[in-house]
Amino acid sequence: MSQTGCPFFDAVFCRYIKNPLKQYMRGQKRLYFPAVSAQTMAMTNTDQSSAGKPSIFVTRRWPADAEAALSQYFVPTFNLDDRPLSAAEMAAGFASHDAIAPTVSDKIGADIITAGANGKGRLIANFGVGVNHIDFGAAAAAGIAVSNTPGVLTDATADLALTLILMLSRRAGEGERELRAGEWQGWRPTHLMGRALQGKTLGIIGMGRIGKAVAQRAALGFGMKIVFYNRSRIDDISAYPARQLDDVESVCQIADCLSLHCAASADTFHILNAERLAMMKPDAYVINTARGDVIDETALAAALSAKQLGGAGLDVFQGEPVIDPALLAAPNTVLLPHLGSATVETRTAMGLRVVENASAFFAGQPLIDPV
Ligand code: DGY
Repeated sequence: MSQTGCPFFDAVFCRYIKNPLKQYMRGQKRLYFPAVSAQTMAMTNTDQSSAGKPSIFVTRRWPADAEAALSQYFVPTFNLDDRPLSAAEMAAGFASHDAIAPTVSDKIGADIITAGANGKGRLIANFGVGVNHIDFGAAAAAGIAVSNTPGVLTDATADLALTLILMLSRRAGEGERELRAGEWQGWRPTHLMGRALQGKTLGIIGMGRIGKAVAQRAALGFGMKIVFYNRSRIDDISAYPARQLDDVESVCQIADCLSLHCAASADTFHILNAERLAMMKPDAYVINTARGDVIDETALAAALSAKQLGGAGLDVFQGEPVIDPALLAAPNTVLLPHLGSATVETRTAMGLRVVENASAFFAGQPLIDPV
């Protein structure tokens, strides 16, 4: 039986109102009431009844609990297909909302910021701690505030750095590939021998929250010695021995494993370059869970292929998600698709941190995590 008297509106009614309501009543689905957007049918606002709440344009899907929390305090527009949005779509989204919540994979350039500032946009509440994808000069010039989500992803990212260290040192990637290819010929004393971590030296570049969490795990969990480079003096490490060295070169020379934890900036661009790679021990590992920009990937691939390095474990890449073919071809690498913060707990906490920052901002209070 027709619901509305028109087949087109019947279809829309069933798809967006009747069926979701039925699923909602059965507890299968949270509600989305779509406002048909000028951009795409798949950009939908949740509960439109919440007049007076600030609106927020969310570029990618979040874990369910974080989306639910956001919907309590804001009128969000979610990108239901979770596809990468174009700059024009983000500009239109920011201009028509009070805030935008982008992620590391959204380049928020001057075009988007200016469009936002010329429209309703007042806040960029980033879902993530790294903010090198946002043009700060343009945000400051346009009077747009920026927040991020530090702290909540420290443990998850440190765990992933240790995952990479272990996968390399115990040759887990190679072993898994061998087994799946049907090439495992059985146990033998010399098969895929890796190297122990105990007593080896972990070098850390950037001793912030994540660098310290990695050092703690490596020292207390795996008996590694810690040396590190940090721009400013670090005096608050007492639970394990850690030596601060004066320059990046000294850390490169000593480390059996070098892990990068500095933020991406003009100062840290290619901080691990061909010259510094050449100073490293020939069996040393390089680990990167920070940003692709901090390593010269061409130089790294060349050093790996020339066997001037023991291996590399990378979770981040300069042109991600496109990976330099030279890195893909390089031996002894473990390559992951930017999984540092990818636990349900952490990604939910990141979303909640966005909610807290945006709530403070629109209540006229200082941002909790201003950038
Ligand atoms: C960040 O937050 O900067 C991470 O790289 C994404 O989790």
